[in-house]
This record gives sequence, structure tokens and C-alpha cells, in this order.
Amino acid sequence: MLKKTVGNWVDGDRFFDRQSDIAALREHVSDGTHTLLVAQRRMGKTSLVRELLRRLNDCPGIDTAFVDLEDARDPADAIVQISLASRPLQSIPRRAGEFKEAILRRFRNVQLAAQYEEMRFQLRAEINRGTWKSKGDLLMNDLARRDGKVVLAIDELSILVNRILKAGQMIPENIDAADEFLSWLRRNAQEHRGRLCLIVSGSVGIAPILKQAGLSAAMNVFSAYELKPWSESTASDCLGELAANYGVELPVAVREAVCRRLRCCIPHHVQQFFDALHRQLKLAGRTDATLQDADTAYRHDMLAARGQIDMDHYEERLKLVLGTDGYRVALELLARAASEGSLSPESINAYKSMLDISQDAGAASVPLVLEDLVQDGYLTRQGEEFRFASGLLEDWQRSRRGLPINPLTAI
Ligand SMILES: Nc1ncnc2c1ncn2[C@@H]1O[C@H](COP(=O)(O)OP(=O)(O)O)[C@@H](O)[C@H]1O
Ligand SMILES: [Mg+2]
Repeated sequence: MLKKTVGNWVDGDRFFDRQSDIAALREHVSDGTHTLLVAQRRMGKTSLVRELLRRLNDCPGIDTAFVDLEDARDPADAIVQISLASRPLQSIPRRAGEFKEAILRRFRNVQLAAQYEEMRFQLRAEINRGTWKSKGDLLMNDLARRDGKVVLAIDELSILVNRILKAGQMIPENIDAADEFLSWLRRNAQEHRGRLCLIVSGSVGIAPILKQAGLSAAMNVFSAYELKPWSESTASDCLGELAANYGVELPVAVREAVCRRLRCCIPHHVQQFFDALHRQLKLAGRTDATLQDADTAYRHDMLAARGQIDMDHYEERLKLVLGTDGYRVALELLARAASEGSLSPESINAYKSMLDISQDAGAASVPLVLEDLVQDGYLTRQGEEFRFASGLLEDWQRSRRGLPINPLTAI
């Protein structure tokens, strides 16, 4: 029975569908292909990798480690994180058993969490600007020497790369630093192919960042795998399972109306909708959901304060990738797309010439920003025009500008 979750990554009985993605990544693992998992945020990348590793842990001859680089500031930090996450797999593990336990329990135990912090501190003293590369090589060599195959998942690589590049300030020194780290990763991936299998993923589209820095080639030992949104029917099935598990009567027509409105069924949004609906039914003391309930949950919960928080998060990420000027251009383009229903070449040109006349630094970035918005999953291209991929993102933009939102309708 599927349990609802909004926000954190999911695995086990909270994980829905994705069989073909799991199968594809399993195949990458068995033939030793390194993977670059790409998708916009909230698509379920972390969940997919976590679930894959959970299943791989049952396979004899395969060991796994999961590294999160969200908080890593520089390459040295990244090596520290990889070292900590792969501790139980290293040849001279210090208190390996305890660590495995601690990692599995995600440090809920205060004492273990303190030990972990202490170890992180020690490692950070050993691994620094001057030593990270050689220490990193030793570590990767050590992992590759194990009897079985090691699957090393590295999450949020794009955040680290972006941090090294310092968004918007692509100065040669930063580009060299990012290049140095990616080249290190690539060299190790090549050297240990077959024994060490890397699955790298990140929430901000890494491709536009690397392209901006001219570093795209650095990732070419990785085979890109795009995690797609759920189809409307999978999303509807997920809602059906959630409803069954929580005793909610949710007719197929209502589920379909919601999925059609979301248009791009990002799993997180599907879960958010169910959560909003469930909350609303509980308040009303009912268990049967009508189209009217779904509409209220959508507009007055998902599009209201709760949704706003999520949207702020989306925009923060956008700012991180685009820098201040590009971000401003992106917001204007999104606003135009929302109010006009789509972005026509005329509208884009009108905006561009407005920027040109005022000699705005943003003028030159319009085509690049548009490309990023497409790569990042905000907009899709339809012939000459651009429109929102996700109905929810479009409605968010509309509602914050006080534009009318159409009610949910059944076919
Ligand atoms: N396979 C899945 N089954 C059920 N819910 C999912 C699934 N994948 C993602 N989700 C939903 O999306 C949210 C974000 O998932 P996460 O894996 O953190 O995405 P990402 O790493 O791409 O940002 C989860 O909290 C959950 O609500
Ligand atoms: Mg993630």
C-alpha cells in the first residue's frame, strides 16, 4: 500500500512505478556504464537512485554508497563526503559496523551523529585544497579493489559545480577549478570502469551550467539518462493507490481532470495534490472526493501559500543557475508566457528591443535564458512559440499576477 510523502525522497513502500527507469539503470550497472541522471527538480531523481541502491543491496557481488553533495562547498568537501559515505566499503574501515549502522539510520542516534561529525572534521583536516586529488585517487583505487562491484551514487553534483563556478561570474579561475574537479571524476570513472560504477545526478539541470562554462566534454564518459515526468495514466494510478490506502473515494474522472491540469505530471506535484485533497476532505469530515473538492484543493491549497513556498524554491534554483541578470530576464519571460498563454517570437522580440533601447545588460542573454528555461523543463517549444510544460507552474505564475485560473473540468 502506497504511503504518501511530500518533500523527502522516497523508497520502499513509498516508491511508486518507475519500473522501466529502474530496469534501465540496472542495465547500466550490469554493463558498467556510468550514468548522468538528468531531470528538473522534484522529478524523483534522488528517490529513483535510493530505490535502485536499496534493490541492488540484495544482489550478491554489488556494494553501494550514496553521497549527497548538496552542502559541499569545494572539491575537498566532496572527497570528504565520498569518503564518509563509502566508509563501510573501504579496506581499513574505522569502526565500519557502527558507521554502516549510522549511515543506514541517517544519524538519528545522537552519539553516532557526533562521532560522524568528529570523523568529518578529521577528514576535512587531512583533505584540503592541496591534497584532495591524491586523497581522492587513493579512495577511488581502494573502492575499485573490492571483490565485487561498487555502485557509487553522487547526488547534487550540479549544485557543487555551480558553487565552484559561482553562478553568473564565469571567471577563468572558477572555470579551471570546476574543470579540475570534473576531470578528476572523469579520469577515475574511466580508470575503474567495470569495478566502480558511478551514477551522478543533480537537481538543477547540469547541462546548461556546463555548457555556459564550456565544460560539456568533461561529462562525456557518462551516459545521460533523462528521468521523465509520469504519464497522465501513471499519475492517475498513483492517485488511485494513495486514495485506496487512505480510504478516500476518488473517482477516475476526478483523477484524470487533475492529471490533465498538471499536464506535466511531476511526481512531487501529484503527491502534493493528494495531500491537499486529503487535508481538505478531513476538514470537511468526508471521504468521497468530487471534482469541486479537487478544484478547491488545487486552487486554495496548491496555488496558495503552500504552493508559493515551493515556487520560491524553484525560483531560487533558477537564480543560482542564471545569476542576477539572467534571472530577471527569466522572470519576465515566464510572466509573459503566463499572461499570454504562450511566448510568441513577436513578444520575445518586443521584450528584447525594450532591453536594447534601455541598453540593458540582459538583452544579450534572452536567447540563452530561453534555452535554459527549455532545458530546465519550464518551457517547451511548439514550433516558433514557447509555453509552460507544467500546468501547475503556469497557474502559479498566473495566480501570483492575479490572472484568472480556469476551474478543473472533467472531459
Ligand atoms: N517514485 C516515486 N513514488 C512516489 N513519489 C515520488 C516518487 N518520486 C518522487 N516522488 C515525490 O516527489 C518528491 C521529490 O522526490 P525527490 O526524489 O526528492 O526528487 P528530486 O531528487 O528529483 O528533486 C517526493 O517527496 C515524493 O513526494
Ligand atoms: Mg534530489
